[in-house]
Amino acid sequence: MTAGSRAVDEMWEQLQARIRAVANPWLRRLLESVVMENAERLRKWPAALTVHHAYAGGLLEHILKVAEVGQAVAVAYAADPDLVLAGAVLHDIGKLEELHHDDVTTYTREGNLIGHITLGVMIVRQAASAIPSFPSELRAHLEHLVVSHHGDRKLGSPVEPMTTEAFILSAVDDLDATLFQVQQHLTQDGDPDAGEGEFTAYHPRLRRVLFRRGVR
Ligand SMILES: [Fe+2]
Ligand SMILES: [Fe+2]
Repeated sequence: MTAGSRAVDEMWEQLQARIRAVANPWLRRLLESVVMENAERLRKWPAALTVHHAYAGGLLEHILKVAEVGQAVAVAYAADPDLVLAGAVLHDIGKLEELHHDDVTTYTREGNLIGHITLGVMIVRQAASAIPSFPSELRAHLEHLVVSHHGDRKLGSPVEPMTTEAFILSAVDDLDATLFQVQQHLTQDGDPDAGEGEFTAYHPRLRRVLFRRGVR
């Protein structure tokens, strides 16, 4: 699966539109600076090596889906949709340094030694420091969103979510990665490992077979 350049242009425009709509001027400025500084890689990076969105443009697609779903959940629970958007854009920003993407995707030295959560929080700290008088509580909340997004210490987050927005971000991040795998597995027709008929082959990560609707 590859996101073509037209699809990437459309996703890029959607991301810009969401950022333009941010009401908090500090957040809008920080997001604009991070996105513009990293535009080239953000448009073409995969979200992962293998597990989900592992193709050119995959990170952008993942960011947008987490933004779309996360902001809807934020509104439903009277949380702050601007902060959830910031979390969607920034939570995996460290992947720009964790992974190298060319014809193939590999882990970088920093990716192996430091990892995307810590690399990401360093990018956010630097971006906030470059904006004079950036509010320290807002910066801490943004950094919390990045470091807690895996939701559990056992999954690599040094702290677990402590705000409504952090709970929303980590839940929606996990949901998007899971649903990507579900939908990819259901549509892998012709793949010898995909199984035949109503039920797919066993998916080791999801630890189950899946049911295909309307197939006999
Ligand atoms: Fe992550
Ligand atoms: Fe993610």
